[in-house]
Amino acid sequence: MKFFIDTANLEQIREAQDLGVLDGVTTNPSLMAKEGISGEENILNHYKKICEIVDGDVSAEVIATDFEGMIKEGEHLASLHPQIVVKIPAIKEGIKAIKYLDSKGIKTNCTLVFSAGQALLAAKAGASYVSPFIGRLDDITTDGVELIAQIVEMYDYYEFDTQVLAASIRHTLHIIQCVEAGADVATCPLDAILGLLKHPLTDIGLEKFLADYRKLNS
Ligand code: E4P
Repeated sequence: MKFFIDTANLEQIREAQDLGVLDGVTTNPSLMAKEGISGEENILNHYKKICEIVDGDVSAEVIATDFEGMIKEGEHLASLHPQIVVKIPAIKEGIKAIKYLDSKGIKTNCTLVFSAGQALLAAKAGASYVSPFIGRLDDITTDGVELIAQIVEMYDYYEFDTQVLAASIRHTLHIIQCVEAGADVATCPLDAILGLLKHPLTDIGLEKFLADYRKLNS
């Protein structure tokens, strides 16, 4: 199970990297905008800064929605740094762009996936990752984790190499549910990752150990 952090915030990326368990980063245009990053040069520089902080894959999303535009942008993004994975939406032109970029040895992440059918086409086109958005499905009373399990089963059965990257994770329980569903990767906000550590018995136990030590050692 790999952990990616789902943010463009450099401080949070550094904090997750310092934990020693980070395998990569996902961004999207909304996350970049949240950090106030605008203008082509600034955006590209920001991706490079992220790649310098982490060791693993860094997803950078195209803005174009036509085939020519997506492959041009994708090739440019991929040339920035060897860790860049080009994020392409699960639309008709996007599937063609994934196929093309895969043939050029460029890694892709098929994003905005909300159905097994979209995940099937992404895998057939040769996507390196497929990103089902579980939180946004939950928001419309559809079980997002169930979709992860369905895609994992399909990929296992047909032996696709595409990795299932559970995205739109909103809380810590989602991470555990994605583990149970067999996701290859979970991309999470920092708080959801840190939430995995929270347990009252750990805090109570540690307090008692330290109190007992102090009784005889102060
Ligand atoms: C990451 O790849 C996705 O873009 C992100 O997880 C979407 O999350 P959201 O649904 O919370 O915006």
